[in-house]
Amino acid sequence: MSSATVTVMQKNLKYQLKSVEKVHVKIWEDAKDASIHIARSIALAIRQKQQEGERIVLGLATGSSPIGVYKELVRMHREEDLSFSNVITFNLDEYYPMSPTAQQSYVRFMHEYLFDHVDINPKNINIPDGTIEMDEVEAYCKQYEEKIDLVGGIDIQLLGIGRTGHIGFNEPGSWRDSITRLVRLDGITRRDAIKDFGTAEAVPYRAITMGIASIMKARTVYLMAWGQHKAAILQKAVEGPISTNIPSTFLQEHPNVKVIVDKAAATELTRVKTPWLIGMCNWNDDLMSQAVIWLSQQTGKSILLLTDNDYNEHHLSDLIIEYKSSYELNIKVHNQLQDTITGWPGGKPNADDSRRPERATPAKKRVIIFSPHPDDDVISMGGTFLRLVEQGHEVHVAYQTSGNIAVHDYDALRYIEWMQEFGGAFELLDKENKTSLERAAKQLRSQSAQKDSPEIRQVKGMIRRGEARAGARFCGLKDKQIHFLDLPFYETGTTRKKPLAKVDIEIIKGLLEDIKPHQVYAAGDLADPHGTHRVCLNAIFAAFEALKKEKWMNDCWLWLYRGAWHEWPVHEIEMAVPLSPMELYKKRRAIFMHQSQKDTPPFPGNDEREFWERAEDRNKATAAQYRALGLSQYEAIEAFRRWKF
Ligand code: F6R
Repeated sequence: MSSATVTVMQKNLKYQLKSVEKVHVKIWEDAKDASIHIARSIALAIRQKQQEGERIVLGLATGSSPIGVYKELVRMHREEDLSFSNVITFNLDEYYPMSPTAQQSYVRFMHEYLFDHVDINPKNINIPDGTIEMDEVEAYCKQYEEKIDLVGGIDIQLLGIGRTGHIGFNEPGSWRDSITRLVRLDGITRRDAIKDFGTAEAVPYRAITMGIASIMKARTVYLMAWGQHKAAILQKAVEGPISTNIPSTFLQEHPNVKVIVDKAAATELTRVKTPWLIGMCNWNDDLMSQAVIWLSQQTGKSILLLTDNDYNEHHLSDLIIEYKSSYELNIKVHNQLQDTITGWPGGKPNADDSRRPERATPAKKRVIIFSPHPDDDVISMGGTFLRLVEQGHEVHVAYQTSGNIAVHDYDALRYIEWMQEFGGAFELLDKENKTSLERAAKQLRSQSAQKDSPEIRQVKGMIRRGEARAGARFCGLKDKQIHFLDLPFYETGTTRKKPLAKVDIEIIKGLLEDIKPHQVYAAGDLADPHGTHRVCLNAIFAAFEALKKEKWMNDCWLWLYRGAWHEWPVHEIEMAVPLSPMELYKKRRAIFMHQSQKDTPPFPGNDEREFWERAEDRNKATAAQYRALGLSQYEAIEAFRRWKF
């Protein structure tokens, strides 16, 4: 292809992209780099205003999305003399009612992540007050709005996007001309907030938020979205029609909005999901498989039944030109998918492995299954776990975190009372033990603490350990193959975790060095870039990086499974392990060992079903997709993707 043709293609693409994406979107490889980019743009604007002797007004957001931006701003303040002396801030929102000292208050959040670490004048900080009397709220909101206008309006507004499509707390139904006011939170938003408040009942029903009109007046707007769980709503916000049902779509009318997303949040955008619908593509084998699988799903035909006509009618004619004919293309993709299926996840001994996902040798492999929480191993790959043990591999499981915050208080109390009774009956408790058990029981009964004491955390951690041990033993492991890593980053007693530190990485490294595995399985769940799964994965990546020069590492393959929330799309699967109905039932029993997570786990996420139900539905759905594409019929399939460094 000549460079002139490429330029024309790119120009056309830009033009066609504009017809689909109604705001300017930039996709970054990961959230960290994207956040640094935003922080630097803000820092530049602050410095420019400083040089001109002027103030700058920032509109700030809370939640997980802006944390990386604040982190970089703090770093620049510490290391690059970035001063906030000319900065005035207005926060978007606050729960109502809310005490500023409460764990979940946005006042506390802002101080923790930004204000306490920079030289901003406290008088320049404005955050809606969640303690205002109800009959004064209206006047207070009016003043808040006027105050923004009085300082000349917002120069740069930072926004996250909620799963309802809200910006600020402007939930579906918010009007274009809405200003700062008291609002009712959407059910989905309240559900998402359970992770911060502990229980559904504790989440406030209301909030004070700047309105859509207040946000639209800002001169520059950055909308951030990180992680797969934002992909569907982001697509609607960027490509969908403007509607009060999705308030973020109003941003399409803003003259200077920049939507900054990571790769995971971009997965539902047309240019990523079905780029052939936008313009000409630079085809490679991965994109080709993606297109053929999409075409098969679109037409409802299995891959081998697709015709030239199907390709032509679905914007894929250039694919046929590139790969000669639909006949060859179909066979190629069909066979590729066929080659992902294996009942031998540890490799099939004495078999030709040239087209198999795993190596045949060594026939007996050393394997580590890393599980971020104590139940992810069985939920996400219980069938493969059982199979690996049955096929004689030396399987180890490593529980990365204690999972102690995800145990209900009433369960912890039950165990403590059991210890008190048992210890009392056999006179096993000294005075000190008795007092500490009493203290813990009292705290659990009163439900007054915002944060578990170290004793309660220990009890909750022990409950989860016992369950994990039972699950791993059920899968056939001996106790010496079960490792509890209790990574320190997790041990805060709240949902806000410490950043990943060297000590966490050293623990993972230590285990890898001890076992020198041929296979490592890890949760490749990129759904939440700030969540525990992602941090646990980063710890593994960092340990691999540190060990990459070791000879045994050449033989160490890393397979990623996905957590309880979503699955690999079919075109990304590199190993598909089919499960029979009996194996699926056995997997269910392994999940049942996690009694504290049954019925209603403390952190169910956005899915009402129990973990075993989600796992089974997901594994059955993968099998159904393979079947619909024209491959053999299986009860269920567990899916993996290999991570190549
Ligand atoms: C926070 C706010 C919300 C969040 C949104 C996304 O001040 O107004 O609109 O930006 O709910 O939250 P995260 O970033 O936690 O996904």
